[in-house]
Amino acid sequence: MGDINGFGDPQPRKKWILNAFSMSSSGHVASGLWRHPRNRTHEYKNIQYWIDLAKILDGNFHGLFLADMLGVYDVYKVPGNLKPALPGAARFPISDPSLPIAAMAAVTKSLSSGITASTTYENPFLLARRYSTLDYLTNGRVAWNVVTSYLESAAKNLGLETQISHDERYAIAEEYMEVVYKLLESSWRTDAVVLDKEKREYTDPDRVRRINHKGKYFSVAGPRLIEPSRQRTPFIFQAGASKAGKSFAIKHAKAMFLPGMEVAAVKKQVQEIRAEAIQLGRDANSIKFIPGILVIVDETDDLAQKKYEEYLSYANLKGSLALFGGWTGTDLGKHGDDEDFKFSDNGVATELALGEPQAKVIKSSKTVADILERWIKEAGVDGFNLSYAVNLGDFEAIVKWLIPELKTRGVFWDPVRAEGMSMRENYLDDGLGPRLRADHPGSKFKWDN
Ligand SMILES: Cc1cc2nc3c(=O)[nH]c(=O)nc-3n(C[C@H](O)[C@H](O)[C@H](O)COP(=O)(O)O)c2cc1C
Repeated sequence: MGDINGFGDPQPRKKWILNAFSMSSSGHVASGLWRHPRNRTHEYKNIQYWIDLAKILDGNFHGLFLADMLGVYDVYKVPGNLKPALPGAARFPISDPSLPIAAMAAVTKSLSSGITASTTYENPFLLARRYSTLDYLTNGRVAWNVVTSYLESAAKNLGLETQISHDERYAIAEEYMEVVYKLLESSWRTDAVVLDKEKREYTDPDRVRRINHKGKYFSVAGPRLIEPSRQRTPFIFQAGASKAGKSFAIKHAKAMFLPGMEVAAVKKQVQEIRAEAIQLGRDANSIKFIPGILVIVDETDDLAQKKYEEYLSYANLKGSLALFGGWTGTDLGKHGDDEDFKFSDNGVATELALGEPQAKVIKSSKTVADILERWIKEAGVDGFNLSYAVNLGDFEAIVKWLIPELKTRGVFWDPVRAEGMSMRENYLDDGLGPRLRADHPGSKFKWDN
């Protein structure tokens, strides 16, 4: 057992998963930063912005993960108050994240896209159809970030008086997944499309069947309308944090996003989730843990800190507090200046202003890499979900400063090897092909392999 790579490791180093985290909106995790001269997020309506972003990320990041919401963050000062989110563009306005994906796939070789969609508000038949279509158009480079949604405003947009209770949303999600697996895994045999010109047969009629799902929440006859795509079920992301959310993620997801500011807290979550996965009969090591971190990197620690301070001068703190209100349902605007929460002194609000309540690393490339290495080694995570304050700028800085350092350390993945791979193969790196793994609950619905 020697030190084969100069970093004290006896074996080749584990390659890190690098995800870029964004949203189809001007203000994702940094409200007000739309004003920054190098920020292009207000171009989210413009396909060229997505193409430019995809080209920067391709060959550097495994994938781009796009969050999504179906309502406005309106919990600040007055319930239902739209106004605080608007000046800083705090996730509002926002557009459908799934539509630019095909254009990004056309200009990239290995970059995948993870798109968020809600099991509480989207119809499963339509969702299965959309992800199948995206699986075709990206050649298997698509994931679904499964969310149950938490905004009261979304419930009101989608025909409800108020939100369905938290745990019932997960119960609905459970049946929803079954419907999606039936549609995607069991309604078409792999060899159904024969394209036999002599027999005048596009599809063999014996190789397509209905699913006839009738459950508590859904009734779907099937089959799905599009023929079998490469991954069938898209690769699945999840970020549940509650008991119900974590159990759901362990069962269905192979990549989990973890909230958390500290290594010790994230380590505890990783250990608990792995233990529960083993109890459920899943291969615990095959679940990839990806904590969110805001990395602001530059040539020196000092330059990175100056950049951060310059960014802060553009922040819109009311927008950040409106975002906080939306996630938690807690209206921070109710706290007066004389209370313990002193928002007017910019303390908590400034902490949330860039990157939200997630770890922030604002340093030179070597120091950033040292800190990230600690997360990998001590917390047992598999990579990082890297957000930004200025986009494209912060992703360009990661490519310029951090990635060369990761290459030197032997932890950078191999994007050339990933060319032509599906997203599932690229993230899991287990050589087991593009389809659901045998330990996955959706596998029992496979008509064939
Ligand atoms: C990195 C990350 C990204 C998330 N993206 C979304 C999203 O795009 N849309 C959404 O409704 N929820 C999103 N969430 C919220 C989670 O899906 C989940 O609801 C939340 O972590 C609370 O867990 P729970 O649902 O188990 O209570 C995200 C969470 C994290 C940590």
